[in-house]
Amino acid sequence: MGVVGGTGRTKLKVGVLISGGGTNLQALIDACSENSFPVEICVVISNVADVKGLERAEKANIPTAVVSHKDYNGREPFEAAINEVLAQHKVKFVCLAGFMRILTDSFVRKWHDRLINIHPSLLPAFKGLHIHERVIDEGVRFTGCTVHFVRPAMDDGPIIIQAAVPVLPGDTPDILGARVLKSEHKIYPMALKLVAENKARIVGEKVVLLGTETPELALLNPCEG
Ligand code: GRF
Repeated sequence: MGVVGGTGRTKLKVGVLISGGGTNLQALIDACSENSFPVEICVVISNVADVKGLERAEKANIPTAVVSHKDYNGREPFEAAINEVLAQHKVKFVCLAGFMRILTDSFVRKWHDRLINIHPSLLPAFKGLHIHERVIDEGVRFTGCTVHFVRPAMDDGPIIIQAAVPVLPGDTPDILGARVLKSEHKIYPMALKLVAENKARIVGEKVVLLGTETPELALLNPCEG
């Protein structure tokens, strides 16, 4: 625990922020169960109690905390409470995985280049909410998902990995969402690994992938399944 299998290198200490089902969290937990994966999830924080994501963390013996935005008078004290939990668990890097609160600039600045998010579209297209519905309404042929560093503007920041996903005739938002989610589960662990190995460097607000034998990683276009 704490050391990347066979290398002597310490693992990146990560906190994951969630609000719900946590299937992306699960993908990260599964990746971390490999000793060679350079990340240790130290705590999972949810702003909503009793969500499935918390159960997933508990099952994997990861410490959890509920920090409900409803218990705080404003975003600053809410985020201060989150920061306190992250500090208690010595977290050095934060992953947003379906965390449904908008973060203040001050939180984003504190975690500058140490905060990533997954979004279910090919950013910068389709920022915000109800993505799959809007994608279908627009009649675009491809959508996808993006893992990116977080910047103060919503769904903005240097892109680490994207996966393209086709929009098929007869898709409903749920069907399309499920197809996109499968790709999310692939690219989130991949992106986190690149970051943890210091292979995703930000140069001029773009991510350059260093030292990977597979540069096509950054434009993953996964097939079905
Ligand atoms: C995912 O589609 C993610 O891209 C978005 O919220 C959803 C969370 O799903 N930010 P889950 O909780 O990981 O299952």
